[in-house]
Formats: sequence, structure tokens, C-alpha cells
Amino acid sequence: MAIFYHEDSKVFHLQSKNTSYIFQINNGYLTHAYWGKKINNNQDLSSLLFHQKDDFLDRLPQEYPQYGSGDHRSPSYQVQLVDDGSRITELIYKEHSILPGKPKLDGLPATYVESEQEADTLVITLEDSYTGLEVKLNYTVYKDFDVIARSANFYNKGEKSLKLLRALSATVDFHDSNYEALYLSGAWSREAYVQRRPLGPGTTSLDNKRGASSHQMNPFLSLVRPNTDENHGEAYGFNLVYSGSFIAEAEVDPFENTRVSIGLNPFDFSWELDSKDSFQTPEATLVYSNEGIGGLSRNYHKLYRTRLARGVHRDKVRPILVNNWEATYFDFNEDKIEEIAKVGADLGIELFVLDDGWFGKRDDDTTSLGDWFEDRKKLPNGLENLAKRVNDLGIQFGLWFEPEMISPDSELYRKHPDWCLHVPGRRRTLARTQSVLDLSRQDVQDYLFDTLHGILSRAPISYVKWDMNRFMTEIGSAQWPAEKQQEIAHRYMLGLYKLLERITNAFPNILFESCASGGGRFDPGMLYYMPQTWTSDDTDAIERQKIQYGTSIVYPVSAIGAHVSAVPNHQVGRMPPLKTRGDVAMSGNFGYELDLTKFTEEEKEIVKEQVKTYKENRSLIQQGDLYRLKSPFEGKGNETSWMFVSDDKSEAIVFYFRVLAEPEAPYKRLILHGLDENFKYKQGTTDQVYGGDFLMQAGLPISPKNTDYTSLVFKFRQVK
Ligand code: DGJ
Repeated sequence: MAIFYHEDSKVFHLQSKNTSYIFQINNGYLTHAYWGKKINNNQDLSSLLFHQKDDFLDRLPQEYPQYGSGDHRSPSYQVQLVDDGSRITELIYKEHSILPGKPKLDGLPATYVESEQEADTLVITLEDSYTGLEVKLNYTVYKDFDVIARSANFYNKGEKSLKLLRALSATVDFHDSNYEALYLSGAWSREAYVQRRPLGPGTTSLDNKRGASSHQMNPFLSLVRPNTDENHGEAYGFNLVYSGSFIAEAEVDPFENTRVSIGLNPFDFSWELDSKDSFQTPEATLVYSNEGIGGLSRNYHKLYRTRLARGVHRDKVRPILVNNWEATYFDFNEDKIEEIAKVGADLGIELFVLDDGWFGKRDDDTTSLGDWFEDRKKLPNGLENLAKRVNDLGIQFGLWFEPEMISPDSELYRKHPDWCLHVPGRRRTLARTQSVLDLSRQDVQDYLFDTLHGILSRAPISYVKWDMNRFMTEIGSAQWPAEKQQEIAHRYMLGLYKLLERITNAFPNILFESCASGGGRFDPGMLYYMPQTWTSDDTDAIERQKIQYGTSIVYPVSAIGAHVSAVPNHQVGRMPPLKTRGDVAMSGNFGYELDLTKFTEEEKEIVKEQVKTYKENRSLIQQGDLYRLKSPFEGKGNETSWMFVSDDKSEAIVFYFRVLAEPEAPYKRLILHGLDENFKYKQGTTDQVYGGDFLMQAGLPISPKNTDYTSLVFKFRQVK
């Protein structure tokens, strides 16, 4: 790892483990030269800059381009001078410094280092001399990951007021357009479907305006070469460490350059930057791999698992939980909860989670959000007592909250009708009969902190599920003046992050899991505060193969909550066998979400076995390297397979799923990946020993049972 500056040619060379990222100061502009496989630094890198020095701006590859002076592509930023309404600025190189480590981002989640040796950061200051606007571009290069973390910081050093109209986190101008866009889109209960399509002239634009990173479009865009597959070829990833509205776009210009930018969505955004004010953009993580999409994913996984997620649970294996949501919905009482927890404890499950419905008068989803006190009808002895009773069974107790929301039918709303996002004189659009609390307000943040603090300090709660079940509408705040109303969506996120920082610091031992109607906020911003996420409200084992496959393109398996649920499945009515449901859920952060008391003795034996198998393998699954073997998004989509390999390659576990039985199926071999070709591997409890080379070249012979919804699991251990 290193950051080099070649004084003579004014070239910056950012070198990570396997990659180089190179750009130059060119007539004061930062001109992008190269990003890809590592290049030796001891050579004349200026010849990489094949464009002409006096090239016109419209074709100059740049690092943080402006708009309005000849570059007609989408810019990285736009600033308005409040005085005269003009929108022209010209950012010119002023100075730079190279720092060991990585400075914190003010008020925003970001990747971090634990020691200064892990990364270096280049800070380049650009200046618009006319206004005094300064922009600092931050580039952190990690030693152990092929990642460059970028962000920009705006500072109004001048005397006059400015207004940010657009402030993206990063732009990269690629020198050709022979790429395909790969990204994750979907819907509620159908999150993270892998999409792939060629770029063409014009813009491929991914965005969302929902005030959450969303089920519909993940804040992730990858450019891959047409021949890139799971294991080979170039893949570039852009991911925004942010949980609100974003934009990610790839624009192919007439000269066949491709401009990729990612950042806060400029739609309905502006930010006042008075004299001496500053504004920090969220961080974008840029990952390069020439080992295909799998290589890209493994880079993201390791970075996010070890240098984005934080806290005491980061490196620990996660408890197997049972959640009562699909077991009871709102209809439960203390005894029912205790019964489920008791069976759970008997089966080896480690954590019971009490979901929605324990507070206010919450017998359905039309009421009580905001009233965070026990419903004494359901819990006559209170939460503390219930948590203790559950603990006495030998199992931890976890609790669901949806802190960011307010029901119009709640004591809180009656007391503070102006505490929700709203616009005076306009309808307050409800979704799931609820409004969004205005977290841009300090008093709302404080109220939530005090309320949660009270409950979490009173009862022995080991885990919190932090849910959020609707998007923003009528984005406005009663607290802020007219000029700041376009800041509210972002101020909300800053308020949320501030609150999460306070709560997670106050309760460092509690394991937090984020959720937004499933995967509506599965993003790196939330992972910074909460190391795991409820992946989807769709718990069907067949649907989950796609959802978990897609989610794993960016996010680590330790973060991917996956539960066994009842059949017929509550979302799609399917009836996969308990084994398949278990195997799919075991491919993630494992748990159950059904009424355990309804299991037959035979089913309980299967569950006991699943719990035991998961405990034996969870460190491998949660912390090992993921290799995806078969994609449900390719071919007939009938087969999905993935495997996990330990760091030292001595252990691996392989999962194979097939949706429908195949008449006269061909003989099958599963080509494995990530093993050591010189190792010998023993398969499970059989006497079968294979060479790593055999498994990765000839493949593992498999013969799935010829029924629908089948699954196979293979364990391999190195033998000497
Ligand atoms: C949405 C979540 O995704 C579910 O798991 C459950 O917690 C419900 N909300 C409760 O309202």
C-alpha cells in the first residue's frame, strides 16, 4: 500500500494490494488516468495520460468535474452563488497532503482503520478562487483490501453565501465504454435481484428518492467487462455508505468514455453553505477486482465485516435466534412467548426475539408507534419480568422497536402533532397507517434516546431489532426555516446516525439488527451501526435463494439475516421441506421465525440437528470466504449453489439447491472454488477423499434427490 506523488509529472499513484489508481494535476484540473490491476510505480506514469494537455473539457477524464464551462456531462457537484444566482465555479488544484491512517467522517458512517498502518489517505484541496469555495477530496487506500474510499468536503472560505445543489461523493471517468452495468434492484419481499445490462450511449441511472436506501434499488453500481463472470475478469464496484436517497450513474459520452458517479441524490436537495460553513458528503467505497464478481464481493465482505461493522459483536459468531413475528403476529401473551422460548432453549436456540406488538395498544399495525411502554394487557408483569423469565430458560432476550415512526393514533402524536415530517397545509400521507418522525429535530432525537435508554437499561435485553417500515413523503420540517427545507431528507439521516451513535455507544453489549420491512435499508450506512440486517420479509426458502444470492454481491454473510419459517410459506404459499428451509437459512445469519411449539417430535429432531450443524459451521459461514457456484439468475434459474471456505483453506462447506425436479437429469458435477489445489479434502463423515485440484477442475459429483425444492450440503476438511 502506498500513495506516491511524482512531483515532476504531477502524477498521484494510489497503490493498494493488487490495484493502482492514477491521476494527474493537469492545468489545475485533476485528470483521471487509470484504475485497475497494479502497475509498478517505478516508471514514467505520465504516458498513461494519453489525452492532450489542452484537450477540451468535454472529453477530459476527470476526478471531480464541474459543470458550466465546457464539460457537458453530468458533474460531480454544482454550487450556486446566492448573491447573483450564478452556478459557475471552477475548482483548481491548490495543495495536497498524505496522512497515515484514515480520518473520521464528521457525523457520517464510514470505513475505518484500527491502526495507522492499515491505510493512507490523500487529501487534495481544490479551490474556486472567485468565491473562496474549497473542496477537499479524500482518497483512502487500504493495505489489505483493494478498496479506495472516497468522499468530498465543501468549505466556504469566502464571505458570501453559497448553496450546494449537487454534492456527489466520487466520480471516475473510465477511458472506454465496453462495460456492462451490474446492480441490485427489486421490491419489498423481492430484494437484491441481480441485474446486468450493457452500457450504451447515454446514461444508465440508478437512483431512489424514497428517503431510504430502499428495496427497489441498492446504492451499488458495478461496471463489469462483457466477459466477466463470477471468477474471472474485471469488475469495478461503487457503493455508497449511506442509508437515504442516492444516485449512481454511468454516462457514456460521444467519445466512448464512461463517467461513473455516486452520491447523495441531487433531486430535491440543496444545502446552504454560509461563510465558514462546511459540508461533508457520504463516503463511497470503490472496489476493483480482476477475479470476477466473486473477487469483488469478497473484497467488500472483508472490508465491511472488519472495517465498517463495529463493536463487540463484530468478530463474534452471532447467536441463533427465534423470532415470534410469523409465529404470532400481534396476537400473543406472556405465556405464549415463554412457551416458544422454552422450546427454543430446548432445541439449542440462543436468543428469543419479541417482535412487533408488545407496546401501547398495538393489536394491529394501525396504532401506537411512539408509545414505547408495555401493553399491560399482553404483558401484565412487564417487559423486565418477561425478559427475566426468558433468561431463566437459558436463552437471551431481544426486543423489536420501530423508533423512527409515529402512529397518528398514539399518545405521542396527540402530544406532538408537529413531530412528524410534514408540509403545512398539505395532506400527511400515511403508509402502514404511520408517519415518519422528524429526526432532523434535536428534540425528537433526544426523546427517542431517552425512551430507548429507559427500556434498554431496565430490562435484560441482549438484542434489538431496529425496524423502519415506510418511506418518506411530504418531506418538510416544522423546525427548520424555508431556505432549509431541501436539507431535511439529509438532515434526517444525520439525525438518525447521531441517534444510532448515541444508543449503540450507550449499550455496547447489545447486538443490534437493522430492518426496513426486510431489506429496505440493507446498506453500508446501517451496517456501520448494526452488524446485521433482516434481509427480506420473504422467508420462502426458494425466493430467499435469489435474495440472499443478490445481497451477497456486496454484503457479508454475517450481516444477512435468514430464518426458517413455517409452511405453507406466509408470503408465497410454497412448501419446501424443513431440510431445504434450514439449508437456505444456514447460508446466512441463522434463525427461526415460526411457532416452535407446533413442531412434531420428528421435526424437533431435525431442528436440533440444524442448530448443531450451524453451531459447528457458523464461524466458517459467517467469517469465511464466499464463493458463489451457481446463480439463480442465470440459465433456467433452477439451481443455486455457494460455498464457504476458511481463511487457511482447510475447511469448506458447500450448499446446493434445486427448485424443481428434473426429468432425465444430466449427471452433475459441481465445480468448487477457493480451495487449495494441493490439499486433500475428506468429505464429511464419509471415507471419500478428494484433491483440491480434483474438486476445482473435475468437480464434485452430486445427485440431488429427484423431487422439487431439494438441497444438498457437503462439508470438507483437509486431511494430511
Ligand atoms: C417488518 C419486518 O421486516 C418484520 O420482520 C416485522 O418485524 C414487522 N415489520 C413487524 O411489524
